[in-house]
Amino acid sequence: MVMKGRCGIGVVASVAVATGCALGLLAVGAAAQDKPAQDKPAQDKPYTVVDGKVDKGTYNGWRRYTEACLRCHGPDGAGSSYAPDLLDSLKSMSEDQFKEVVVNGRQNVTSSATNVMPPFGTVEDVMLYLDDIYAYLKARSDGALDRGRPERIEQ
Ligand code: HEC
Repeated sequence: MVMKGRCGIGVVASVAVATGCALGLLAVGAAAQDKPAQDKPAQDKPYTVVDGKVDKGTYNGWRRYTEACLRCHGPDGAGSSYAPDLLDSLKSMSEDQFKEVVVNGRQNVTSSATNVMPPFGTVEDVMLYLDDIYAYLKARSDGALDRGRPERIEQ
């Protein structure tokens, strides 16, 4: 599959790098606004699943999701009593909208309870692998991938 754009891999760890990376993602997002995710052809999917096994990026996305997001969004992206089901979210959300929320966070102030989605714009382990996290969740959302730890395609 096509190489995916990644920022900052191999660059010395620093908050400045992570922030620059986040801004880069947003800039790319703005430029690509005329291409809604839903209209993309099938070969443009951000993940590869063959016989239930996934490409390296999607596997890494599962790992990163498990480390950074699972405690609120539940196992396999399926939601919890605290945070929404991201598999549902990605059925209507574009990749750019998804990344915007992860970078900047969001607070639900309309309900009686206050649920906070923390901003990850300066968290390197999330920003560097945001494409992978999106790919993993998109595969789950599309029904292309089952629950649980995925197996990797041999390479
Ligand atoms: C501390 C708990 C917490 C963590 C950790 C967390 N989230 Fe969230 N997230 C939330 C809450 C709560 C909301 C709902 C915010 C609201 O009401 O607007 C949310 C909302 C979202 C949304 C918007 C969903 C929608 O339908 O609008 C996305 C996308 C999202 N989170 C992705 C992630 C990703 C990816 C990670 C891991 C990198 C992550 N979240 C980690 C609590 C969390």
